[in-house]
Parts: sequence; structure tokens; C-alpha cells
Amino acid sequence: MPILPRVAAFHDEMTAWRRDLHAHPELGFEEHRTSDFVARKLAEFGCEVHRNIGKTGVVGVLQTGNGPSIGLRADMDALPIQEANDLPYRSKHDGRMHACGHDGHTAMLLGAARYLAETRNFDGTVHFIFQPAEEGIGGAQAMLADGLFQRFPCASVFGMHNTPGMPVGKFAIRPGAMMAGGAFFDVVIRGRGTHGARPEAGIDPVLTACHLVTALQAIVSRNISPSDTAVVSITAIEAGEAYNVIPETAVIRGTARTFDSSTMKQIEDGMRRTAAGIAAAHGAKAEVDFRALFAPLVNNADETQFMADVAAGIASEADVDRNRSIIMASEDFSFMLEACPGAYINLGNGDDAGRYPVHNPNYDFNDAALPYGASLYARLVEKKLPRLAKDA
Ligand code: NI
Repeated sequence: MPILPRVAAFHDEMTAWRRDLHAHPELGFEEHRTSDFVARKLAEFGCEVHRNIGKTGVVGVLQTGNGPSIGLRADMDALPIQEANDLPYRSKHDGRMHACGHDGHTAMLLGAARYLAETRNFDGTVHFIFQPAEEGIGGAQAMLADGLFQRFPCASVFGMHNTPGMPVGKFAIRPGAMMAGGAFFDVVIRGRGTHGARPEAGIDPVLTACHLVTALQAIVSRNISPSDTAVVSITAIEAGEAYNVIPETAVIRGTARTFDSSTMKQIEDGMRRTAAGIAAAHGAKAEVDFRALFAPLVNNADETQFMADVAAGIASEADVDRNRSIIMASEDFSFMLEACPGAYINLGNGDDAGRYPVHNPNYDFNDAALPYGASLYARLVEKKLPRLAKDA
């Protein structure tokens, strides 16, 4: 089955929604107009609407029969970027822009909600999850902390993201780890300040920091299996202000990336152990603040196959890459996938109109992709929650 004809019939309307959202971008946890828009549409379609889940998050509920439940998720936030496009629907908000296509994701999920509310060709409950603040400020975690899956239990949950450079109508997914988890860290080394000419009177945090930066390189090379992917990068060292003063403290900062939470824990443990040991060797003290901001995005194998099969039913088998390469960027849908089995897929944003990468001031979501995403969301429901034939 190609794009659902009923979805194709309101392609123009979905395009108008998407462009309206594009013209009014809002940053994470500030999506007030956007969540009003989403809530109003869901109510119009006949969904039950729940607001303020994770601050500006919205959940629409559509129930038909007593079958299982499913979650479909889209993100709603924009980025602090000045739009460079000269479009009739360009951003009306200076310094803010839908440069990652979350306007398109929101419009596609609304399209699926409209279709499913009209056709109700399923048996069970659909939770339409409109998430705020995906861009690194904790929207998924905020929804989870507000009891997302306790209030709206889901047997499985699915998300998607557009991919510039991939033709419209194509999909890409992989089972297992697909996107990296990310952490930021600060290590504060406390020594004892003294005159630069009298090192014996102090404890030098600068020398300790230099030894520590070198020693931390051993975590990936000596502690992590060569078959795992991990990065530890020290990206800043701050210490001292004068030629003749050994300072009290030195701070090193950086980031770690892994495709597995246990690997991230190994890095954190290794960093704490190394920092404490190196500092002790110099008579200094080290405090480590290690913040895992994104979990790695790990697709459930069965749900990945299911999602790829549904995508192949909308496009064709040849249009679905079932073993795409891993992505070093992060995505906070990962936290929902830690709480519930599910999968996340990329859909083509085009290799012409959609050629600018996400987070670029010339990026624009490609409206030609809307019916593909909306049809995929809708068919996931119809396939996962099949309505049993009455005469069966
Ligand atoms: Ni994005």
C-alpha cells in the first residue's frame, strides 16, 4: 500500500499547518503557541487532550475498542538560529527558527491523528505524544518525570526524524544502537596556590591537570573494548592568570559519546578513578561532575523490523535501508525507548529542496515528505492494533 489516499487528500492542509508552525518557532519549554495549536487540532479531530505534561508537552488520546495501546511521538521545539531563507512563511521570530524540521514532525503526527480519528480502523488506544524541548534541554525526561508512561501506558512507542540528503519517500533505520549517547563533564582540581618561584610551598593544580588530561586518554584505549564505539574529548582547560602565581585550582571540561549506557558508566567510573588517583599522586584533590545528558538511542530489534516492514508497505522494500550507519549526534527520544520498547526511523527530506543539513540557517522541512510520515504513523497503528473482522 502506498501513501494512504485519505492522507494524500489533506496534504495541502498539513502543509498549511507546517508552514504556520514554521512561521512561529518557539524554543524548548516555551512552545505555548505551538502546544495551543496542537491541542486545538487534536480536540477538533475528536481526541481527548492532556496538557502540561513536561511543561508544554501535549498528549492526545484516541481509543477505539479494548485492544493494546501504542505511543507515537513528535517533537515541537525550534532552535536559536536566525533564519536565512526568503520564504513566504519564514520565521516571524528573530533569532528563532525551525531548523531541525520539528514543525514537519508535529504536522505529520497531527495528520495521522486526523486520519485515525476519522477512520478508526484499529482496536485499542493511541497516544499522540507531542514532546517539547528536544534540543538538549530535557523535554523527553520532563514528560517521563510527569508520569508519561504511567498515565498513558504504551506497549510500544515510535518516533521519526527527517534526514536531508535522503530522497523523499525513502526510510532508514537500524536495530540496536542507532544514535550516540552524550555526556558533559567538569573536573575541578584543587591544589594550593603559591609564588611561581616557590613551587615547594604549594600544590600545583596546573601540572596535575596536564597529567590528568593525558591519563584520561587511557580510558577509551585501555578500558573500553575495541569493538565498542566511544569518544572522550577534553575540550577546555582553565587555570591561572599570572606569570608568577601557581593558582589554587584548575578546571578541565569535555564530552563523552558512547552507543551503550554501560560503556558510558565505564567512562564515568574510569574518570572518577583516574582523577582521584592522579590528584592524590600530586597531593591535590579532584571533584568530578559527570552529566549524562542523552542516553544512546537503542532501537528494539522486533519493533525495528515491524517499523521497517510498515515503511516498506508505504514505499517499497528497496526504499527502506534496514541497516543504516550509526549517527554520532544524539536524540532524547532515547529516554522514551529506555522506558518502553519501540523504534525510531529516519525519513527522507529530499536531495534537492531538502539538501541543507539540519541546524543550518537555510534548512527547511520538505512538505513533500508530510504524507509519507503521516501515513507511516497511521499504518503503525493499523498494523499494531488490527481490528478483528466482525465475522471472523
Ligand atoms: Ni531534530
